[in-house]
Amino acid sequence: MTRLLILGGTTEAVALAQALHDQHPQWDLVTSLAGVTRAPVTGPGRQRQGGFGGVAGLADYLRDEGIDGLIDATHPFAATMAGHAEQAARQADVARIKLVRPMWPCQSGDHWVAVDSPAGASQALQELGARSVFMTLGRRDLDAFTGLTDTRFTVRMIEPPDETLPFSRADLILARGPFTVEDEETLIRDHGIDALVTKASGGAATHAKVIAARNLSVPVVMVARPEMPGGPAAESVEEVVAWLESVLHER
Ligand SMILES: NC(=O)c1ccc[n+]([C@@H]2O[C@H](COP(=O)([O-])OP(=O)(O)OC[C@H]3O[C@@H](n4cnc5c(N)ncnc54)[C@H](OP(=O)(O)O)[C@@H]3O)[C@@H](O)[C@H]2O)c1
Repeated sequence: MTRLLILGGTTEAVALAQALHDQHPQWDLVTSLAGVTRAPVTGPGRQRQGGFGGVAGLADYLRDEGIDGLIDATHPFAATMAGHAEQAARQADVARIKLVRPMWPCQSGDHWVAVDSPAGASQALQELGARSVFMTLGRRDLDAFTGLTDTRFTVRMIEPPDETLPFSRADLILARGPFTVEDEETLIRDHGIDALVTKASGGAATHAKVIAARNLSVPVVMVARPEMPGGPAAESVEEVVAWLESVLHER
């Protein structure tokens, strides 16, 4: 039986599991989650949770479980896992592909400030003179902004953070996308937002905030994606399914 491991934690991983289940119901699917989200959205097939124990641990898992194909459908910022997947697949001689969602297009009317880290984003906010920031980075990135003591932060997260927010002036919004452009425009207006901070995540589920910022002429401080390992890559679920059909057929 063909057995596939999907490294998940994204809407694309769920969509991929659904497409594979629909088109190849005889294939055995396992989706792996890091275990950081308490109530993750999952697709069809089996699930496993938690780290593998580095490259060696993942290579052992691929061999021990008889995995025929590895699809790295993790988030574009999950660079450690992406590197481990590439190396482990090579060591275990398993076919591997990276599913990476396309970046949002930058259009006329967008005012994007590209930075390469949360520290760079903090510096950019200072230069913009931002007073009320819509912050969509994760908890572990927020310490870079603690120097901005005159700035109010509206922080949006999927689940409450384990540690309290490191800001004296902050509103916490707990919500899971997808969001509409209308909702995002309301949030920007209601909180008097004058800058948005986001990762260059791309993807449909969180695109609305970037469109809303464009519509309301709010600058967007965009943290660039980390570098990804080489090897086969696809931007859509359909491309991954076609790639799997071709490489698994050859075996
Ligand atoms: N980074 C983001 O902005 C972001 C946003 C949305 C969703 N996510 C999802 O959240 C998860 C963690 O992201 P991250 O940025 O913390 O990852 P990361 O820094 O690249 O990975 C850190 C470690 O977490 C474990 N891990 C990561 N993804 C895993 C998976 N799908 N299954 C099993 N173990 C996994 C691995 O541990 P071992 O070395 O022990 O194997 C990895 O070395 C990913 O699955 C990602 O898709 C991340």
